[in-house]
Amino acid sequence: MTATGRDRTSNAKLLAWVEEIAGICKPDSVYWCDGSKEEYDRLSQQMVDSGTYIRLNPEKRPNSYLARSHPSDVARVEERTYICSKTKEEAGPTNNWMDPDEMKTVLKGVFDGCMKGRTMYVIPFSMGPLGSPIAQIGIEITDSPYVVCNMRIMTRMGQKVLDVLGPDGFFVPTVHSVGMPLQPGQEDVPWPCEGDISKKYICHFPETREIWSYGSGYGGNALLGKKCLALRIASVMARDEGWLAEHMLILGLESPKGEKTYVAAAFPSACGKTNLAMILPPQGFEGWKASTIGDDIAWIKPAPDGSLRAINPEYGFFGVAPGTSYDSNPMAMDSIKANSIFTNVALTDDGDVWWEGMDGPKPSHAIDWKGNDWTPDMDHPAAHPNARFTAPAGQCPTIDPAWEDPQGVAIDAFIFGGRLSKTFPLVYESRDWKHGVFMAATMGSEATAAAIGQAAIRRDPFAMLPFIGYNMADYWGHWLHMEGKGYKLPKIFRVNWFRKDENGKFIWPGFGQNMRVLKWIVDRVSGNADAVESPFGLMPRYEDITWAGLDFTRDKYHGIMDINRQGLLAEAAEIKQFFATFGDHLPDELERQRKALEERAGSAPEVWKMAG
Ligand code: GTP
Ligand code: SPV
Ligand code: MN
Repeated sequence: MTATGRDRTSNAKLLAWVEEIAGICKPDSVYWCDGSKEEYDRLSQQMVDSGTYIRLNPEKRPNSYLARSHPSDVARVEERTYICSKTKEEAGPTNNWMDPDEMKTVLKGVFDGCMKGRTMYVIPFSMGPLGSPIAQIGIEITDSPYVVCNMRIMTRMGQKVLDVLGPDGFFVPTVHSVGMPLQPGQEDVPWPCEGDISKKYICHFPETREIWSYGSGYGGNALLGKKCLALRIASVMARDEGWLAEHMLILGLESPKGEKTYVAAAFPSACGKTNLAMILPPQGFEGWKASTIGDDIAWIKPAPDGSLRAINPEYGFFGVAPGTSYDSNPMAMDSIKANSIFTNVALTDDGDVWWEGMDGPKPSHAIDWKGNDWTPDMDHPAAHPNARFTAPAGQCPTIDPAWEDPQGVAIDAFIFGGRLSKTFPLVYESRDWKHGVFMAATMGSEATAAAIGQAAIRRDPFAMLPFIGYNMADYWGHWLHMEGKGYKLPKIFRVNWFRKDENGKFIWPGFGQNMRVLKWIVDRVSGNADAVESPFGLMPRYEDITWAGLDFTRDKYHGIMDINRQGLLAEAAEIKQFFATFGDHLPDELERQRKALEERAGSAPEVWKMAG
């Protein structure tokens, strides 16, 4: 069969590549996506007919669908994710690695005939506003119509991308297969995938900028523009070209005087980026406005004026559903009112969606994410904990007016944060750029709290542990090298919403109240707020935070700001072990920073107390 496409593009490289992949995968037919609504509706109806989709009640959730994945295919598979750079050292100690030629041989075998009985879709997509100097074009080949529909929400997709690509434009070639060819007469299943995890492959070839993904239809494994291109491959491009590709939300903050500050914040997966990206200023912040540019990924490039300008390369939100409610994230709830895809949530008897943590009482009956009857007395949740919604970003009521600006917005502050139940204060600022890079490189998050003693901290530098496309320590070097080039470097902050009291309860109310921390950050950027030195960095005193509208006592403030010396020393020691795993790739500067922390800890009192 021939792949054609000549009526759609004259890009010879693209045409030849599509022909080549069709030859390997041997689909029944090849279809070039145009990105139209008609196409989206047609594929959606086809999935309703085949059982992949359930159409939700159009009165409750217009133009929206529910998909249930195979129970073995519910999240990213980090153990099957590979960075196939020329050497293992280039991939670094935090990534799985295989020799690129060896992996290509494996993949040629795995992909041979993998699309038999299926349609091969060609998806032209742009990460970032079409034609933006920061944007990149990718082409995803996939045998999943579910992926096509998700990609239409998550990226700018279709013919318009081919038009911008032109006859010899550059694109990142990406191939995806669910890994379940159909023999003649074999009936399909609602969620085809490769059930054996050891046969899944999520592979990146940084040198040739290629992505090959096999066996999973879920999220970052299958929507290849997101983590695979926009983080793993883009981080390598960014290193080579002098920019930054980051696991960050982008948020605009406008003061009552109309001054606008943009911040970008990196938190590990499931640590609240979507919440912060859509924050609503609480009571006491009348006149303040917060606006959303992105909730997961930021591409940041130095502009001629020296500012670091950021775009959201995505076009939609792929957010965790459980825990999302009008109470925790009203703007997310409004974003998913219509035109959305829900995966692995529960179905209510009136044809709407439900998940744990949604507002109001639990439904007395629902169909759970596996398709079984569910009642609240059961001991398992109705929605999978990693159930997600796919929603157009433009539907967010607080979307920033500049969110599609091809030039991006100038970032004034970087914020890093993980889930840490002790030692780490609510907020601190770095002494300088180098110290800030150290703060981000050593960021951690608690996996599970140990019953007794220290909770295990999983280091997740820059929230990029699963997403860096090269040696993590070299990536820290890249960040250090942003200094000294005449750029207007943003200030760097660490935050921690998750400190707990002796009863194991969060001390800080979080969510909308995080605006109080953001305001201090904004004021630091504009030079309008004070800070005091602590062993960690620069911190706000009680009176430096705006408390109007919240009853939060000085005592409680001490509970999230005071610093235990033993905790500091343990941190410095743990970082030493962590750094040792990077050998001589570790920039000397970061060890200097670690020693400085150790020294400050050594001369700190048993409990460092915030003044006042
Ligand atoms: P990915 O999409 O996986 O990259 O993650 P994300 O960073 O967007 O995380 P997500 O929105 O899924 O994180 C939500 C989790 O963070 C939920 O468990 C929330 O309860 C929690 N969370 C968000 N903000 C706060 C906060 O201010 N305080 C506390 N205690 N929890 C918060
Ligand atoms: C994450 O895990 O950080 C996500 C979800 O944003 S996924 O796109 O599936 O990687
Ligand atoms: Mn993410």
